[in-house]
Amino acid sequence: MARKPYARITGTGRAVPESILSNHDLEQLVDTSDEWIRTRTGIKERHIVKRGEKLSDYCIKAARLALEDAGVSPEELDFIILGTITGDMRFPATTIYVQGALGAVNATAWDVSATCSGFLFALYQGEAQIALGRAKKGLVLGGEFLTPLVDWTDRGTCVLFGDGAGAAVLEQATDERGILATHIGTSGDQAHLLYCFGSGSAGSLNNGNGLHDDFLHMNGNEVFRHAVRTLGKAALETLRRAELTPDQIDWLVPHQANIRIIEATAQRLNIPMDRVYVNIERYGNTSSASVPIAMDEARRSGIIKDGQTALAVVFGGGFTWGGAAIRF
Ligand code: ACO
Repeated sequence: MARKPYARITGTGRAVPESILSNHDLEQLVDTSDEWIRTRTGIKERHIVKRGEKLSDYCIKAARLALEDAGVSPEELDFIILGTITGDMRFPATTIYVQGALGAVNATAWDVSATCSGFLFALYQGEAQIALGRAKKGLVLGGEFLTPLVDWTDRGTCVLFGDGAGAAVLEQATDERGILATHIGTSGDQAHLLYCFGSGSAGSLNNGNGLHDDFLHMNGNEVFRHAVRTLGKAALETLRRAELTPDQIDWLVPHQANIRIIEATAQRLNIPMDRVYVNIERYGNTSSASVPIAMDEARRSGIIKDGQTALAVVFGGGFTWGGAAIRF
């Protein structure tokens, strides 16, 4: 018997840029091939933001769809939490613009920085607000524009990422449906394996040499190794907290970073690939937007059905990780 839930996901939404960059397009930019990208990562194409577009616009679109799906009005929201590392501006928080555009006058809005785990950190915080009785309804989002941070001459990173946003409405659970368990974690000794200086105080703003370094840097092999190990551990810890075993999970919804990482995680949990939701071929790695986009797609297409249980699990730079067992 699974743990009783406090909060429930009652609506989801997603928004991605129209422009699509295919592996064949990338063959024109760097020394790569569609075959290499597909077999090494599982990605065929990704949605790419156009110059001048803002992340908040995509978060607002995803939020409106999630609210409509839940039948909740913006005034009913007590909080809005956005997981992102690529917000519109250094400050204020990007969620502030989401709150303003929605007219969520009774909500408090804040961002959380947890790389690719941003959505699950937001979900963790949102669930806690409801479990503690501080809030009745809220909105959690994961949104990311990583492609503007990519060095388009570096074939080791430029083939991996895509842009987008996803949202979920949280309400008090009324029955056995809801978030059965959440789990988050960080390890502060591996930050050098995946980072971006950007406008941080250790970057161009204060480094004394005046050099800009807005590119994302990653040691792909090392990140891969840690991702496989950590995702498995995070999944098992989330299941332990939910008092569930892997065979009680209808759908594994993993972070869409690399098909080989997804397959290794599923294998570790002994969950067959026909119970794993995969959309990496069409989106690439959308960082904190990856799980909410996948969840929304799977729910709206009827793949994840009401009453079914999904296990979401994520991993990101830092390192950060998270899991959530959710009965829809
Ligand atoms: N096209 C063709 N060849 C390539 C490409 C490419 N796009 N990229 C690398 N190669 C080459 C390398 O140069 C290397 O060539 P060499 O043997 O002549 O030196 C060869 O392919 C093998 O390179 P590896 O780096 O060992 O390739 P690997 O199989 O590890 O795949 C990859 C690289 C896809 C980056 C993989 O390591 C990976 O997915 N890592 C994890 C990435 C990840 O999950 N990151 C996100 C974390 S989430 C976040 O917080 C943003």
